[in-house]
Amino acid sequence: PTPLNPVLAALGFTAVGKSLLDKVVIPTGYSFQIIYALGDPLSTATPAYKNDGTDGDFDNRAGDHHDGMEYFGLDAAGKPSVSAADRGLLAMNHEATTDEKLSSHFIHANGGTTTLPRPAAEVDKEVAIHGLSVVEVKVTDKKWATVQSSAFNRRVTPLTPVEIAGPARGNAQLITKYSQDGKTTRGTINNCGTGKTPWGTFLSGEENWSGYFTRVAADDTARGGDKSVVALKRYGRSAGGTSRHGWETGGTDDKYARWNISKTGASTNGSDDYRNELNGQGYIIEMDAYDKTKALKKRSALGRFAHESAAFGTPVVGKPLTVYMGDDSRNEYMYKFVSKAVWVAADANPADRMAMGDKYLDEGTLYVAKFNADGTGEWIELSMSNAKITGFAGYKFADLADICINTRLAGDAVGATKMDRPEWGGVNPVTGEFYQTLTNNSNRNVDPTGSSQLAPDNANPRAYADVDGKKGTGNPNGHILRTKEGATVGAFIWDVYLFGAEADADKGLINLSNLTEEQDFSSPDGLAFSPNTGICWIQTDDGAYTDVTNCMMLAAIPGRVGDGGAKTLSHPKKDGTKLDVVTQVGAVPAADKLKRFLVGPKDCEITGLCETPDGKAIFINIQHPGENTKLADLANPDLYTSQWPANASYGAGKRPRSATIVITKNDGGRIGS
Ligand code: FEO
Ligand code: CA
Ligand code: CA
Ligand code: CA
Repeated sequence: PTPLNPVLAALGFTAVGKSLLDKVVIPTGYSFQIIYALGDPLSTATPAYKNDGTDGDFDNRAGDHHDGMEYFGLDAAGKPSVSAADRGLLAMNHEATTDEKLSSHFIHANGGTTTLPRPAAEVDKEVAIHGLSVVEVKVTDKKWATVQSSAFNRRVTPLTPVEIAGPARGNAQLITKYSQDGKTTRGTINNCGTGKTPWGTFLSGEENWSGYFTRVAADDTARGGDKSVVALKRYGRSAGGTSRHGWETGGTDDKYARWNISKTGASTNGSDDYRNELNGQGYIIEMDAYDKTKALKKRSALGRFAHESAAFGTPVVGKPLTVYMGDDSRNEYMYKFVSKAVWVAADANPADRMAMGDKYLDEGTLYVAKFNADGTGEWIELSMSNAKITGFAGYKFADLADICINTRLAGDAVGATKMDRPEWGGVNPVTGEFYQTLTNNSNRNVDPTGSSQLAPDNANPRAYADVDGKKGTGNPNGHILRTKEGATVGAFIWDVYLFGAEADADKGLINLSNLTEEQDFSSPDGLAFSPNTGICWIQTDDGAYTDVTNCMMLAAIPGRVGDGGAKTLSHPKKDGTKLDVVTQVGAVPAADKLKRFLVGPKDCEITGLCETPDGKAIFINIQHPGENTKLADLANPDLYTSQWPANASYGAGKRPRSATIVITKNDGGRIGS
């Protein structure tokens, strides 16, 4: 594959230091602007955001917790353009909200209710700040800004009608009171990572959707422990307790009742009213950011789990397309989807973009990854032609739709490798190799106890106490693994590109990549390659190193799978013996091939990255600054753990807000050069 422009041989900026300041820190010679924060209006009829908890109409405002994000160029006439670098659309996820107990306190005047039942008006506001947004951005006199009057601006929320596509469409497990034919569902929720298709649409991964629903404690016995109970438990929806925000208590209307999936009713086709509402969430959802009239579609062929990003292998004419995906929970799996249709060059610029999703994403084969000690691996097919699936004692699969809806159980059936929380992935445009962040795993343990703890293995080889003993054990700092496809669709080789670590940590068991003070990081989460410069951008969502530095973004120019070698980690066990684990460690990164580029304000995560086609502007999201601010401190801004972006002179009020920033180089060059 040939990138658009010569890839960088070395990073040209001076690394920034670690920071605990309540501000965005970037290298000398670069500038940033804040352009789009929680509550910013998306129509001219919507008033400016007061940021005091009295604002309404979130269907026409930026949502909360900006996450994954993609850029879609527009030419001067407002038509889609793959080269437009001064005008485009940002499509992004609004994953969640800053909350304490049940309430999203920053969007309510008094912080909201933290007991049940939740008032309908509070629930309505909270639902509306979740989902997706599309906002037009453009450059005027070298300054980027959103276009408040743009006809492209839109919100998608957990109430927006959505189609189910692929094998699960019309399946009995998707029939609800709302969707009598199982072909539709309402909305999308907890959208985390993203992807951009080769035909120019937006993909979004539904991640921690399970916790928004509840079911009563008697549900397991009432159902006789049927297949649905097995499936619900595997997806973390144990019986009893309340949902994350208690939305099911907002009223008797379906839009509240749907969040309690044990509630039964009289649907015409034999299904309970809301039992299957949970099965409508957990997919990769596709949206045409350019066209509001096109229905969004959940691409069930790509499986159902805690989805993060969807990263395409470089399309090759005449070959199937490959999409890589991770399931972000402790001890979950890595997946790839291979399309049945082979790539046709003209499909990069189609008349009907969503029809390309129908063509490439609704039929194909899903695989799950298994890692071997010697640096090889297997992509195991998840289909009814795999005897391990049809013969699985833990769950009786009925058909391919059942596999697409209950994908985690299929991964269990074939013995896939349980990973340290697969977050974002990206494909290196230079080598075609796939990179996967494994953010951390508190359940990795040299002396495992209980069924949820796992001993270190070849692909997840570390387990230790956090180096300062303050912020966790297991694999608190995470790692970035990479794979290279083999000669057949089921074969790959792998190594660990980088191990997150504090620079002064032990180099034999923790700082295996020999990271320096200019490179050290913890808990890699967002990861995206620039198709322009070839830079691998690495973003962190960390708890283990935040006593020393706020979350950050690094730039990397990686090598190739196998550029390092095998290494044996000799872990000390409690009984005085050793647990030896063989892993594959990538080459130690040179000083000009891995550098810290940005540190964010307090209590934030850095996530989402896209760039203009010329590589001269990048957009990133500052998610949940000040997230540890207490509801009880709401009246006293001095007690907020962050006042960003207000302290950077952006917007009214002092309540912290998730926001998009754009970064440019003062000399007009490509970012990172
Ligand atoms: Fe929403 Fe796994 O991060
Ligand atoms: Ca994430
Ligand atoms: Ca994370
Ligand atoms: Ca620490």
